[in-house]
Amino acid sequence: MIDLRSDTLTMPDEEMLKSILSAPLGDDGRLGPDGRGEDATINRLEDMAAEITGKEAALLCCSGTMGNQVALMTWCNPGDKVIIDELQHLYRSEKTAFDDRFTRLRPVFYHLDKDCMPDPEELESLMKEGASLLCVENTHNFTGGICTTPERMAEIRTLADRWHVPVHMDGARLFNAAAFLGVPVKELCQYADSVMFCVSKGLAAPVGSLLCGSREFIRKAKGVRKLLGGALRQGGIIAAPAIYALEHNVDRLKEDNENAAICAAHMAGLKNIHLQDHVQTNILMLDLKDAALSPEAFCERAKEEGLLIRPILDTSVRLVFYKGITREDVVKAAEIVCRLDEEC
Ligand SMILES: Cc1ncc(COP(=O)(O)O)c(C=O)c1O
Repeated sequence: MIDLRSDTLTMPDEEMLKSILSAPLGDDGRLGPDGRGEDATINRLEDMAAEITGKEAALLCCSGTMGNQVALMTWCNPGDKVIIDELQHLYRSEKTAFDDRFTRLRPVFYHLDKDCMPDPEELESLMKEGASLLCVENTHNFTGGICTTPERMAEIRTLADRWHVPVHMDGARLFNAAAFLGVPVKELCQYADSVMFCVSKGLAAPVGSLLCGSREFIRKAKGVRKLLGGALRQGGIIAAPAIYALEHNVDRLKEDNENAAICAAHMAGLKNIHLQDHVQTNILMLDLKDAALSPEAFCERAKEEGLLIRPILDTSVRLVFYKGITREDVVKAAEIVCRLDEEC
């Protein structure tokens, strides 16, 4: 079975697991005068994340969801407005900070332009509504892993400065974006005030996401994380594989991006299924709105043929490429989709 449901399926390899055994551990919830916990491995990971993103400090969170929601709750007060696009994971799939039981944030929606990036003109008109935060997702998951370029990020920064609105970047797959754009991660992060990235997706660590920002922002965020039950005690056992991932698995992400492009090239002749216009990183979206099979039925048929994929949004299915998926898998997956296209 070729499993392309998500890059969260990556498994820690033996060397990564071994890194846990020699990791110095301590109680991350016990804070010293500098506000840092006693787990040296978590501290090392957070310092690495800060360095890589070019921020002053970082905070290890259990998940991308926790990192994003801690960021929203740190930047905003209950009831504040947040400028986001409707398809962002932190709104569409997470929602915590927008929930009545939590911070009751109010979304102000923007649309993505034809290149699937935020449109500065529209953002400017929304800034007038007095929002407390602007959120950008890079890569953008539900549009098929599309990147917001450094140039567009710079325009967004200029606007945000003019209206004094901080920018949070959900960079769950930020390293895939940097690999596609051919820029260091830092270059994309310089335009955002806070950045969340996941080590548990393409980077192939088992658990964890890093929220990065100024020292003052991270100090406050640490308080919010504690409120949500996210202090990690001997969390070095998850920080060690995360360090291993940042040291060993960043450069190979371009392979995942290439695999998506190769798969797309093998699907060039699709008739009834629409492949997304531009493939940039490790996600491929297939739109089935004109197909005879529903996304659910399509995924069932794909499973019978040996390919596991997932329905996503109302009319689409998604293929995600990650460590362990071979070129042979990529070609086979494309062949299965092409065969099913005939049934559509
Ligand atoms: C863009 C984006 N942000 C955030 C998350 C949340 O990450 P997690 O599953 O670790 O909570 C995901 C998960 O798929 C995602 O795709």
